[in-house]
Amino acid sequence: MSVKLTSILKKKESTSGVDPTIQEYERRSNKAQGSGTVNREDNYQEYNDLYYDLVTDFYEYGWGSSFHFAPRDPGESFEESQLRHQHYIADKLGLSSGMVVADLGCGIAGPLLEIARHSGAKIVGVNSNAYQLERAVKRTDEAGLTDQVEFLHCDFLKVDAPDGTFDAIYAIEATCCAPDKLSIYGEAFRLLKPGGHFGTYEWCMTDRFDDQDPRHRKIKADIQLGAGLLILDDQPTAHNALRTVGFELVDATDVALQDGPSIPWHQPLVRSGYSLLDLRKSVPGRWVTHQLVKVLQAFRIAPQGSVRVSKTLNIGAAALAEAGKLGIFTPMYFLHGRKPD
Ligand SMILES: C[S@@+](CC[C@H](N)C(=O)[O-])C[C@H]1O[C@@H](n2cnc3c(N)ncnc32)[C@H](O)[C@@H]1O
Repeated sequence: MSVKLTSILKKKESTSGVDPTIQEYERRSNKAQGSGTVNREDNYQEYNDLYYDLVTDFYEYGWGSSFHFAPRDPGESFEESQLRHQHYIADKLGLSSGMVVADLGCGIAGPLLEIARHSGAKIVGVNSNAYQLERAVKRTDEAGLTDQVEFLHCDFLKVDAPDGTFDAIYAIEATCCAPDKLSIYGEAFRLLKPGGHFGTYEWCMTDRFDDQDPRHRKIKADIQLGAGLLILDDQPTAHNALRTVGFELVDATDVALQDGPSIPWHQPLVRSGYSLLDLRKSVPGRWVTHQLVKVLQAFRIAPQGSVRVSKTLNIGAAALAEAGKLGIFTPMYFLHGRKPD
């Protein structure tokens, strides 16, 4: 389903538009990056909310309803590849009818609805962003899946559910938003029944990342700014955290690196494919969108501050493309853990 830029940007129009929000977001991002230590405990959720209030419309315009990357097989469209990777995580965790499953950081429920249809499991989407949840509830209604799907509006580090509630838990490119891995994996461990499985596509710096290289450091900082992340861990930090909180490590694989011929995950950020959504993600597409946003803001069709949001997202997209080319970052480090019986 394609979304028009004019209609999505008009939704949250007010006199000052999104200007104060993007300014506050940039202030916090700079502070976090400058000091290297964020007041994470107090601020991470507000920071995430600020970010997703600003960017959800842009994401939906450029990405559709699934906000994650996916490497492609030759001849496969980006959307087909997203579905393949949604099915992959569901199948690896053995999701099936009769199970109660949590989706941590469910976005506007694109992957959630597909995984519900694919597996037959009951899915509970957890998200702290009220605006995204509004969209998720509406999409669930439209999909006719209200009997199989529920949503919890809460921080995924403090989920409003008793210990051992879920048969399985997954997260798609969302646990990277947590202020640290131990808290988010620890919460998943608490929420799972004994023997339950947890899987996540994690954003990580790879072993090619060199913290002494100023170019690498700048790319990492720009990814964090563009994607609303307070931290970006390396792969060992992530898989060690999974073990530390008590999981048996079943798998730790970078699924962005496919065997055989493959179109890399970052390709849509560089060159366009044939669909409208593909075009919007590419360098020329993002340039056109940015020019459009400028015009829309000048005519007060888009709220004040929209150009600044678009610019921030473009900084992140360019950094992700660069990181992908250099191989210093992956958005899909697949971690799979099992809670012991
Ligand atoms: C990149 S989006 C991915 C969304 C979705 N999994 C998808 O693939 O379409 C990250 C999601 O994590 C959610 N999130 C980030 N921090 C959160 C927190 N502390 N509690 C709950 N949800 C959070 C965001 O609101 C957003 O929906």
